Amino acid sequence: MSAVVIGLGFVGLTLALALADKGVMVFGVESNNGSYRTISAGKPTINEKGIELFLRRNLGRTFMVFEKLEDVPGSEVDTYVICVGTPLQSGSPYIGYLKSATESVGKHMKGNEMVIVRSTVPIGTTRKIVLPILRGELKKRGIETQVNIAFAPERTAEGVALQELYELPQIVGGINEESVSRSMNLFRRLTPTVIMVSSVETAEMIKLIDNSYRDVRFAYANEIALMCEKLGIDANECISKSNVHYPRNSIPFPSPGVGGPCLSKDPYILAQEELVDYLPNKRSLIIAGRRLNEAIPELLAEKIKSKIRSKNKSAKDLKVFVMGFAFKGHPETNDTRDSPTIPLVNILKKDFNIYGHDPAVPKDIIEAAGATPTDIESGFKNAACVIIMNNHMSYRNLDVTSLVEKAARPFIFVDCWRLYDKKIFETMDGVTYTGVGIV
Ligand SMILES: NC(=O)c1ccc[n+]([C@@H]2O[C@H](COP(=O)([O-])OP(=O)(O)OC[C@H]3O[C@@H](n4cnc5c(N)ncnc54)[C@H](O)[C@@H]3O)[C@@H](O)[C@H]2O)c1
Repeated sequence: MSAVVIGLGFVGLTLALALADKGVMVFGVESNNGSYRTISAGKPTINEKGIELFLRRNLGRTFMVFEKLEDVPGSEVDTYVICVGTPLQSGSPYIGYLKSATESVGKHMKGNEMVIVRSTVPIGTTRKIVLPILRGELKKRGIETQVNIAFAPERTAEGVALQELYELPQIVGGINEESVSRSMNLFRRLTPTVIMVSSVETAEMIKLIDNSYRDVRFAYANEIALMCEKLGIDANECISKSNVHYPRNSIPFPSPGVGGPCLSKDPYILAQEELVDYLPNKRSLIIAGRRLNEAIPELLAEKIKSKIRSKNKSAKDLKVFVMGFAFKGHPETNDTRDSPTIPLVNILKKDFNIYGHDPAVPKDIIEAAGATPTDIESGFKNAACVIIMNNHMSYRNLDVTSLVEKAARPFIFVDCWRLYDKKIFETMDGVTYTGVGIV
C-alpha cells in the first residue's frame, strides 16, 4: 500500500508519519522550500510529541519527501491524500491551495488511484470543486475513467496528533462504494475504528460541526464569565459547583479567548451566510459564539489596563509580564496562529513594557508579537502585573509565593486559567489576584 500526502503542515506531516510507521509507503510532498529542506534533513517543522523518533524511524525507508509531485514515481502510487491549508481570507475560506494541489494530482494520476481530501473545506467542495478538476485534468490527457474520491476529516489535537491518529475513530465519506472501501482500507492501517458515512458531504459536515460545537461551548462559558464579572460572582465557582454530580451539565471553564487555526476558522466555514438564510437577520448562534470568543482578549486587556492604572496612578514605564504565547498550553504546541495572547499584547504594549515567556515558542516569535523574551524569574522581577495566558503544564507548579515576592508593589496577578488558589494571595500586601470570570 502506498500514498502520496500533499502538504506537510501539522496535518500532512503527522498523517504521513503515522501511516509510514505502520508500513504504508508514503511519498510526502511539501512545496515550501524551507519546510521541504527541514523535513528532508530529518528535522521536524512542528512541535509534536514523539515526532523526532517517527522521522528517524521512517525517513528514507517508508517515508520519502519531495518538493514537487512530478518527482514522485507515479507507477508506485495507490492513493493521494490532500492536506493543504484552507485559510480564511476576509472571512471566507480560501481554497486556492486546494485547487492547485488538486490540479497537480490530476496531472500526476494514471486514472484508477484513490483521492482523499483531508483539508477542512466548505460543504460540497469535494464533489463540486475537487472532483471536476480531477476529471478535467484526466480528460485533457484522454483518460476516461471513474474517479474515486472521498473526504476523511482530520480531528486530532495539535501536540498529541501522532498518538491520536492511532486512537481516534476515522470518518470516511466517499462518492461511491469503491471510494469508501479503499479509503477505509488505508485508515484501518491506523486504527480499527473507521466510521463510514453516507456521503462526502456528511463527512465534510462532521469536521465542521465538531469544531463549531467546541467553540460554541467555550463561548457559553465565556459569556457566563463576563456576566459574573459584572455581578461580582466567581464564574469558576458557579460552573464547577453546578457541574458536580449533575449529569445533564458539563459546562467548561472560561478562558482568555479561544484561538488556534481550527476553532477560529471552522465556525465561519460552516455558518456561511447563504446557509443560515432561514434565520432572522442571518444571526447564527455559531457565528455569535465565535464573535464572543474573539472579543474576549480585547475585553480582558482593557480590564487589566484599567486595573493597573487604578493602582498605579502616576507611574510610568510599568512592566507587564505575559506567560503563554501558543494558542494553548496543554497539549503543548508552539503554534501561535490566532492565539488570544497576540491581540492582548497588541493592546497592552501601547501603555506598558511587555515581557514574554512560553516554553514551547521560539524567542523571535515572542519578540515579533511585541514582547521582550525572558525567563520566568526575571519576568516576575519588578513587574506591576503578570498574566498567565495559557495552561502550559510547567506553569502549574511554580513557587508562586517567592516569585510574587520579587514583583513590584502594587502588583496584579492575572491567572486566566486559575492555576493558583486565590487564597494564597489574600494575605500578601499590595497584591491583587484576578482572572477571567472574577472581579
Ligand atoms: N492544524 C490542525 O490541527 C488541523 C486540524 C484539523 C484540520 N486541519 C485542516 O487541515 C488543513 C491543513 O492544515 P495545517 O494546519 O496542516 O496547514 P499548514 O498551513 O500548516 O500546512 C499546509 C502545508 O501545505 C503546503 N502546501 C500548500 N500547497 C501545496 C501544494 N500544492 N503541494 C505541496 N504542498 C503544499 C504548505 O506549504 C504547508 O506546509 C487545513 O484545511 C486545516 O483547516 C488542521
